[in-house]
This record gives sequence, structure tokens and C-alpha cells, in this order.
Amino acid sequence: MTDTSTTAQGAQTIQLSQVCKSYGNYQVLKNIDAEVTRGEVVVICGPSGSGKSTLIRTINRLEEINSGSITLDGRNIHAQMRAKELNALRSRVGFVFQSFNLFPHLSVADNVSMSPIRVKGVKPDVAYDKALKLLDRVGLADKAQAYPGQLSGGQQQRVAIARALAMEPPVMLFDEPTSALDPEMVGEVLAVMKSLAAEGMTMLCVTHEMGFAREVADRIWFIDAGEIIETATPDEFFKNPKHPRAQRFLSDLRH
Ligand SMILES: Nc1ncnc2c1ncn2[C@@H]1O[C@H](COP(=O)(O)OP(=O)(O)O)[C@@H](O)[C@H]1O
Ligand SMILES: [Mg+2]
Repeated sequence: MTDTSTTAQGAQTIQLSQVCKSYGNYQVLKNIDAEVTRGEVVVICGPSGSGKSTLIRTINRLEEINSGSITLDGRNIHAQMRAKELNALRSRVGFVFQSFNLFPHLSVADNVSMSPIRVKGVKPDVAYDKALKLLDRVGLADKAQAYPGQLSGGQQQRVAIARALAMEPPVMLFDEPTSALDPEMVGEVLAVMKSLAAEGMTMLCVTHEMGFAREVADRIWFIDAGEIIETATPDEFFKNPKHPRAQRFLSDLRH
């Protein structure tokens, strides 16, 4: 993958400082301090409603924050900026949703090539060739002309990953990418995510796939009631979770 960032290996990529977010009177994120270094894979886990989706959505500004700051390679994501700058910034942070969100009226290849053409001004034939390569990479070279409705959920999610990668983002965010899939399709999506991690992509993944977390994550962030209450390596987290709520979460997950 082309490296469009100028940050050195190991340098900070994403920094969250004292991030607070409320919906009305309800505080969803409470003084979140965290950082993600370049090439790191972070798995965010925690109970339903704890703020996981809200947290990662603030990172490409799908959600606004009330206070604190979030920087990507030193740039303040929540600064005032023009729509064009915001689009440029968003294109540096790929986002994969639980619900795929493909455009149903566009072919798979057009779904993948659309943003590079529209947002980056890449020539259509160049973008199309690249889309075919990305589809090959996620195992869907033969589906380029198909429409999303003709694909299984696992295939659609792999297209969604290819679409995000088409913008060559230095960072990828995943919000429960396998939660809407039938069990037999989970593995094919996780395999694509694993290969991305192996290539050094910086990734934040909200997922309940603890096998993936154990195998692929560099760090786990455990979030509960809007706070990151434990960060640990997978080894530490699964063998010896420190916080009682993390212990309970893991024990519930196992039963
Ligand atoms: N747009 C919204 N308006 C009001 N409350 C919301 C909104 N989005 C999420 N919430 C609430 O914020 C809390 C955290 O939600 P979310 O970040 O989706 O949690 P998670 O992804 O961990 O399940 C939940 O209580 C949820 O009901
Ligand atoms: Mg969620």
C-alpha cells in the first residue's frame, strides 16, 4: 500500500486528550485520554452502550465532541475547517461499518473507485484498475461487475473494506464489522483484517471477536460507561484483567 503519511514508524498517529461527548444531558464519553501509534492495532471492547461506536466515530468526525482534542498526525481533527478540508481529512481515515453501507445502484467496482475519482480527482481508468486490484486482494476479483444485492454479507463487507482502502488511508477504523454477518462469513472478513494488520496498517477495531483480539491486537482498550478503564496487551487482558468490570465482561462473554 502507498504510504501517504510522513510520520516515522512508531510515531504517534492518533492522540485523544480529555475527550468529552454528550448527547443532551447524557455524557457518553468521559475524559478519554488515549493514543494510537503508527502501525498499531487496537481492539476496543466493552459492554453494549458503553460508547465504543461514539468513540471511533469522533475520530473521523462522524460525531462532534464537546471538549478535549483529537489529533491525527498532529492535526486537530475537530478544528474549524472548510468542507473540503474535512473531506480530505476524512479520506485519511477509512471507516468500515457494521452495515456495509455500499451503494446498491453501483457495481462493486464502481463502489470501490467512486471516492478516488470524486474526492481525489483520480482518472476513472486509473481508479478502476486500482479497484480491480483491491477486489482481487479481498478475494473478489470475479465480482467486479456484480451489484451489492447479488453478494453475501461477507462479500459485501469485503467490498466495503476495499472501498475504504481505495483512498489509501493511513488509518482504518472498524465498527463491529462482523456483527451483522452469518457466522460462516465472519472468518473471511477477519482474514482480510488480519492481512491488513500484518502489512502494518494502523487500525482501531471495535469487535467482540476475542480470538481476533488475542491474535492480532497490540493493545486492548476496555471501555465501560464512557471511560477507558483498562488498556493492556491481549495477553495481560485475557489472562489477568485488572478491573472488576473487565473481569465480568470477559466472564459473560465466555458463557
Ligand atoms: N445519536 C444519539 N443520540 C442520543 N444518544 C445516543 C446517540 N448515539 C448513541 N447514543 C447513546 O450513547 C450511548 C453509547 O452508544 P454507542 O457509542 O453506540 O455504544 P456502543 O457502540 O458501545 O454500543 C448509548 O447509551 C446510546 O444509547
Ligand atoms: Mg456500537
